[in-house]
Amino acid sequence: MSGEPSCTRLDRVIFMSTKSAILHAAAVATALAAGYYYYRRSATVFRSRVVGIIPARFASSRFEGKPLVEILGKPMIQRTWERAKLATTLDRVVVATDDERIAECCRGFGADVIMTAESCRNGAERCSEALQKLEKKYDIVVNIQGDEPLIEPEIIDGIVKALQTTPDAVFSTCVTSLKPEDAFDPNRVKCVVDNRGYAIYFSRGLIPFNKSGKVNPKFPYNLHLGIQSYDSEFLKIYPDLTPTPLQLEEDLEQLKVLENGYKMKVIKVDHDAHGVDTPEDVAKIENFMRERNLS
Ligand SMILES: *[C@@H]1O[C@H](CO)[C@@H](O)[C@H](O)[C@H]1NC(C)=O
Repeated sequence: MSGEPSCTRLDRVIFMSTKSAILHAAAVATALAAGYYYYRRSATVFRSRVVGIIPARFASSRFEGKPLVEILGKPMIQRTWERAKLATTLDRVVVATDDERIAECCRGFGADVIMTAESCRNGAERCSEALQKLEKKYDIVVNIQGDEPLIEPEIIDGIVKALQTTPDAVFSTCVTSLKPEDAFDPNRVKCVVDNRGYAIYFSRGLIPFNKSGKVNPKFPYNLHLGIQSYDSEFLKIYPDLTPTPLQLEEDLEQLKVLENGYKMKVIKVDHDAHGVDTPEDVAKIENFMRERNLS
């Protein structure tokens, strides 16, 4: 970590300055200031305190009461919460909701619940409000969307570590391999990254777009998964950043992060996406679980 080189540097500065008493005093002061700066930097950059927040609302145009829908006899939000509790990087997991029915169900299986305003426009905004209501300070907030009940705890840990090891990124998220049949489905969001794993762009269209106009069976297209983590200082301003042209055109919230010049780290994971967007998706995920003997 960056704490170690700073000590060596400090020693060297002090050693060299012994030539002259005046210079010595000045150098020590500088070295101490530098040491303190590096110490502060490593303390803040590491972003060690992490909270996982599961934002959940009852009202939804496509699927009313979605978080409480039962998947093989257990509420979807409970499945998500149980998976999140297994992540080793999270100091705490909370559900953030505007609905008493959801809150009651979650308290019933032992979850911490934070009540948030009905006016929250999206999950990030709900996470931001919940973060401000928590009594403890956290450096990273993981937004764990309740509609991915089969999310692997390792994926949560992966995106947390990605943000902890990438000091210039304020946001981290993950992608998996896109299935060819999803290439032209606008509900499946695609993502391209640079050679260091920073996001370049997200689109509902197929990116990159092969010159032939067809899917290139050899190209490793990325599908974006609905889980992300934020630097908590960034989360305080993120919901209030003015909507940007590309964000509005694609209807993809995360584009405003890139359009404002912030860096986003993307990791690639193995994950069969089973997002529950509509009531029909419930039967699909239940079949998937039965086939694999998941309960
Ligand atoms: C497009 O896809 C084809 C395979 O379908 C591949 O051979 C070709 O290199 C790709 N790129 C261009 C520019 O055609």
